[in-house]
Amino acid sequence: MTYEHLLIEKQDKIAWISINRPTKLNALNSGVLEELHLLFTALKADQEVRVIVLTGSGEKAFVAGADIAEFAQFNASEGKSLAKKGQDQVFDFIANMTKPVIAAINGFALGGGLELALACHIRIASSNARMGLPETSLGVIPGYGGTQRLAQLIGRGRATELILTCRMMGAEEALQTGLVSRVTSQETLLSTAAEMGGKIMNNSSNAIGHALQSIAASYEESVDGFDAEIGHFGDCFGHPEFKEGTQAFLEKRKANY
Ligand code: COA
Repeated sequence: MTYEHLLIEKQDKIAWISINRPTKLNALNSGVLEELHLLFTALKADQEVRVIVLTGSGEKAFVAGADIAEFAQFNASEGKSLAKKGQDQVFDFIANMTKPVIAAINGFALGGGLELALACHIRIASSNARMGLPETSLGVIPGYGGTQRLAQLIGRGRATELILTCRMMGAEEALQTGLVSRVTSQETLLSTAAEMGGKIMNNSSNAIGHALQSIAASYEESVDGFDAEIGHFGDCFGHPEFKEGTQAFLEKRKANY
């Protein structure tokens, strides 16, 4: 499958995805969203991929938002469909992946771009990154999960302030507030992601899948996260990687996952 708006490379069980519309600061038009859906669906089933890294092409932007030109003429019902389809097919889909997805934020991550990073499981940023949800300046609100995930991550007060003022946050502030977990130079951003991916792949991918689902359960309405954790914990015991991990420890050797 070839993609018009995405660059994909697979190396050492990591899939590297770059959103590739640099002249539009990688803005998410319907073509990009459709391709992201197709690609993540394929990566979900790809046995050769254990970690996914998502970044933006060029040095200026991760993603500068949903494509404003594309939705500027939409009415209320088209607006609703845009948010629903995007959440179902891309943003929730990524958040629900059982393979870790790392957002490597290499510049502007605004609006739908920050929401895309928020849907990923881990965020790292280069020192030039600028992050924000400027939708209210356009007369709309974040529609790809931003009002929910930003508040969950950095707290309701800080998220409300960012959404209401449309202020951009720099990388250091993002690190302090927990929006990102690491800040690097732009040159070392992807090697940092590779190193993190390598550390993750030292561990059981079955357990990692269960850990991601269990952490996510805390944010699902009508799901008791503690109960979910018990279920996922128990499921791990039935998997060969649990046998390998515990056996390796007892035999004082490195587990082979
Ligand atoms: N949707 C559509 N096009 C976008 C875009 C978006 N979200 N963000 C940037 N672009 C386009 C610009 O229209 C411009 O296209 P052009 O060269 O054909 O005119 C190109 O990308 C470069 O952007 P430009 O604004 O010239 O770069 P800049 O360095 O002056 O400013 C930003 C950078 C990120 C501050 C500015 O592009 C911006 O504010 N973008 C919109 C951010 C936003 O509101 N996102 C939320 C959308 S819901």
